[in-house]
Order: sequence, then C-alpha cells, then structure tokens
Amino acid sequence: MEVIIEPTAKEVGIMGANIITEHILRKPALVLGLATGSTPLITYNELVRKHQDGGLDFSKVVTFNLDEYLGLPPTHPQSYAHFMNENLFDHINIDRQNIHVPSGLALDPHGYCESYEEDIKRSGGIDLQLLGIGRDGHIGFNEPGSSLGSRTRVKTLTRETVQDNATFFRNESEVPRFAITMGAGTITQARRILLLASGASKAEAVAATVEGPVSASVTASVLQLHPDVILIADEEAASKLERRAYYRWIQENKSQVNGVISRQIRERLGM
Ligand code: F6R
Repeated sequence: MEVIIEPTAKEVGIMGANIITEHILRKPALVLGLATGSTPLITYNELVRKHQDGGLDFSKVVTFNLDEYLGLPPTHPQSYAHFMNENLFDHINIDRQNIHVPSGLALDPHGYCESYEEDIKRSGGIDLQLLGIGRDGHIGFNEPGSSLGSRTRVKTLTRETVQDNATFFRNESEVPRFAITMGAGTITQARRILLLASGASKAEAVAATVEGPVSASVTASVLQLHPDVILIADEEAASKLERRAYYRWIQENKSQVNGVISRQIRERLGM
C-alpha cells in the first residue's frame, strides 16, 4: 500500500481529484468506482471545478457506486443516488446511462445484487475505485465481521451505524436497517484503489488498516492484499500510524527511483 500523508483534508481531497483526473486523461472511458460520505466531497468539488473551468471530459466515463440504502428512492434526500446527483453528476457532462448506483427499490434485491456484479463485469471491471473509511474500518457498507471475499449483497447495518445515521433522518425508526453494498471481494477486484481518510476520528481505523492484521473485524485491512492501493491521509488521520516517518521517507525518495534506474541502464549500456 502506498501511504501519502498530506497536511489537511483539503490537500487529501485535491490530490484525490488529481489522481482521478490523470486516469480519465489516460483512459477517457474509465470505469470509476465512487463512494459517498463527507470524505470525497472536496474531491467531487474539485472534479466539478476541473470540468467547468478546464473542460475535463466525463462523457465516456462509466461509474459504479459502492452502496445504497435499501428502501430509499433515488429522490429521497438521504439516498446515495441523490447525494451523487447533488455533489457530482448534475454538474459534469456524464452520460446518465453510464451511471450505476445500486437501486434501493429493487423488487428482488438478491437477484439485483447479482446483476450489479454482472454489470461491473460487462463494463470490463472497475479501473479505479475511490473509497472512504468508517471509524470502525468499514469500506462500502461492509460492517465489521463482513466476509473479506463478499460480493455485492444486502447487508444488515449495525446498531451503531443506524444510530449514527439517525441525525440525518427525522428519527431513528426512519433510518434504513439494510443496504445494498459491493462486497469486500468486489472492491478488491478493482485494478487500482484510492482510499482517502481525514480527521482524527479515522486515525485508529487507518492504523489498523495499514499496520494491523488482515481481519474481518476491520474490513479495510483486506486492502493489504491488493497490489495497487494508494492511501491519502491527512496528518490527523495518519497520527496513529507507527511507521509514519518511513512512509514520508518513501515519498521523499520516490522521485529519485527513476533516476537511479536510468543511471544503471546507461552504465550497463556504456553510455
Ligand atoms: C459510502 C461508503 C462508506 C463511507 C464511510 C466513511 O459510500 O461506502 O464506507 O466511505 O462510512 O464515511 P465519511 O466519509 O462520511 O466519514
């Protein structure tokens, strides 16, 4: 896992947007996995700005969102479909047919989850998956205890998640108890993963994800087994990483790696 530590949440968000932009410029028909929540908001603002001021073209980009509450229509202000429209899709030139957010209203949710997996496969698989992380180390709605090989499915939310979410609804009884979420196994099939984390409340989850054992108790820890994960954390979210100094050292030396390799090649060729 490549760990990049930035001073504040703002730099985390902007760097996230820059990485997504590089991917779109390299592959205009990028298959992009997206997350909701407060963490990616700065990234989405920045992508909108890059589209509106710099003409970043989303017309061929295909998106797959991680999750949606079961039972909420896309028009519900707390639905993730609504969140994505408000914060990204309504402000860029994405083709609506290329947007995939799990449907909270599927009549056969289990069959629907299988078809969501099929849609991802048919699109050629996710090139870049954007993730946030929960305080308990969840990714998507894969609550602690989720199987690390799980696929898109209906997941029962923990009591804590329901209570946390109550602030966004009129009362706790209105908070959905179930969600459709990509599984940890679905997420780790993405070719590249971009995990963003900001704020002190994420510090323990970040440390457990990067340096703890791979465990269903911290579902994000499965990312240790993925060959291409970039974690961008702000100082606060990185504050409990034991090897912080080493991660910074790696970043400081990164630009020299290519120089060393090309010098060796030149020497070998006698140039
Ligand atoms: C949202 C999602 C969740 C969030 C996580 C962090 O689609 O999949 O896993 O990324 O709960 O949420 P925030 O960013 O609000 O702290």
